Amino acid sequence: MVTQPAAWPTGKDRVSDDSVYGLAVAVSIATIVLTAFFSRYVQAVIAWFQAGRLLRRQFPSPPVDNIIAGHAVAMQSPKNHRWLSDTYRQLGPLFYVRLAHNHVVFVSDPALLPIMFDRALYPPNANILDRPVEEFLVQMDAMTSGSGHSNMLTDKTGSDLWRLVRKGVAPAFNPQNIRQGFTYVLEAVDQLMAALKERGSEKAVDLDDAAQRVSMEVIGKVGFGKCFGAMESLDHPAEGDAFKVIATGFEEVAKRLSNPVRKYMLWDQGVRKGNEAFKAFHQIIRNLLREVQARGPPAEDDPTIAGHLLRLRDQKGQPLSDDRLHAEFSAMFIGGTDTSGHTIANTLYFISQHPEAERRIEAELDSLGFLVTSTRKNPKRMEYADLSKLTYLSGAIKESMRMMAVVGTGVGRVVNEQMQLGKHTIPKGTILWAPIQAIQSSPTLWDKPDSFVPERWLEEDAEFWKGPANGSASSGDKSAEVVRGRRYLPFGDGVRSCVGQSLAKMNYTATLALLLSHFSFRLADRMGGAEGVAAAEVSRITVAPKDGMWMHAVPRG
Ligand code: HEM
Repeated sequence: MVTQPAAWPTGKDRVSDDSVYGLAVAVSIATIVLTAFFSRYVQAVIAWFQAGRLLRRQFPSPPVDNIIAGHAVAMQSPKNHRWLSDTYRQLGPLFYVRLAHNHVVFVSDPALLPIMFDRALYPPNANILDRPVEEFLVQMDAMTSGSGHSNMLTDKTGSDLWRLVRKGVAPAFNPQNIRQGFTYVLEAVDQLMAALKERGSEKAVDLDDAAQRVSMEVIGKVGFGKCFGAMESLDHPAEGDAFKVIATGFEEVAKRLSNPVRKYMLWDQGVRKGNEAFKAFHQIIRNLLREVQARGPPAEDDPTIAGHLLRLRDQKGQPLSDDRLHAEFSAMFIGGTDTSGHTIANTLYFISQHPEAERRIEAELDSLGFLVTSTRKNPKRMEYADLSKLTYLSGAIKESMRMMAVVGTGVGRVVNEQMQLGKHTIPKGTILWAPIQAIQSSPTLWDKPDSFVPERWLEEDAEFWKGPANGSASSGDKSAEVVRGRRYLPFGDGVRSCVGQSLAKMNYTATLALLLSHFSFRLADRMGGAEGVAAAEVSRITVAPKDGMWMHAVPRG
């Protein structure tokens, strides 16, 4: 006889059993999913440790400042470009640095730099090296776009938008537009020279500010068909106090590059100041964009950068969104004012410290009829074609850009697939970084690297280093095949090199030629001589004297 259980399971109990079963299945699935999820993370963490170990085995590394931040403290210093130069001199052309979770290998060997920059070395469309966007540059988008949009500078090389925009704006920098830009430089420098004369040589002027004003007028017209009126008075802040806003914003971006959580540290006064600067910059660009758009669609032959950007259409025939235009305008505005302005001011400073170089520049300007002298009060008007005749002055500018590289900390590329750098294995995710100031002041690559010698640029191919191809500029191995590599790269290199360099070169050469034809510049006492200038130098994405470059402009003749 079958014994009946005390109570047959009721329908309710069966549901309850199903629930238990369902729960068990759900827990199992969740466990599998979570295990897979976490194992991915665990694997990533293991890969990260392995990559760090592999890199540390291959490259020397300076002492770590902090177990979590790695070398981020040194890299957040306003003299990080000089720290990189010192580290190169101590450790050699290749060294490893950890910036929080980012593995970075600094590469200063000209024989290896082409591997980092030259896409022709890789299969077509290979995207082995790219801009370190998520790792670093995403921090810059907070400044250049109110909505966090990327721009040509902060986009991946592999992205459709970068290709579209880069190709689209390149014609705005063609020789015809640069020639037109020259007339804008003449106008702006004429205004500056009138202001300098009115001020007199007794009163010091911040030439860094003045040169940024000239550059702002030039980019205003070449870029946006706009006169910012920056030359109307040297005593009133230019357009929304743009230079101060950019400097403060850049300082904040620079700090965020090596501390990605900094943006959340709202209790920090510096972070709040940075956010204020971002907002002020957004407003400047918003106004500019509104003004340009209010003119209606650009004509087919509108040569401005803005005209080129507004005419762009993607594969679906769509124009760039307003947010994207805002981000692109920001990149062009910064590129056009800040970098060029500092280059002009730095060059005036170096020339003021080297009377023999100034004599040679005077002789060159005199031979071309541009120099104001006691017998030549009204010199010849400079023409665009004359710029190519300024051989010595061009050497002095290059020398100043070598010794005080405006993007001195340098430029990076992230490695998307494990690759070889000479004999070294570089794991995926590593950032290769060319420290521009360190390369350009390397005692291995340059004679008298710390001396201002414009004459070195009179030699052919001075931008290149020639030496053994065995992966070390300092190996001294005479048997190795000799290769040529770039040792001067103020505008970066490769497909992502500076798109605006033709405009920049014309602008700074013409501005300096005109200013030096009419004035001799003397460093103001308040700068504290060469030591004071060196002490005041700060790197906030771009390198500049912290509180300006104050000089006396002494009229010639
Ligand atoms: C002395 C003046 C200048 C210096 C030293 C300079 C330097 C640089 C450097 C080092 C880069 C990065 C290159 C790389 O990663 O390999 C760059 C990129 C760029 N620069 Fe300049 N620049 C100057 C002037 C300008 C001007 C006048 C403009 C525009 C009006 C401009 C717009 C840009 C843009 C849009 C990029 C990003 C290009 C891309 O990623 O495709 N720059 N510049």
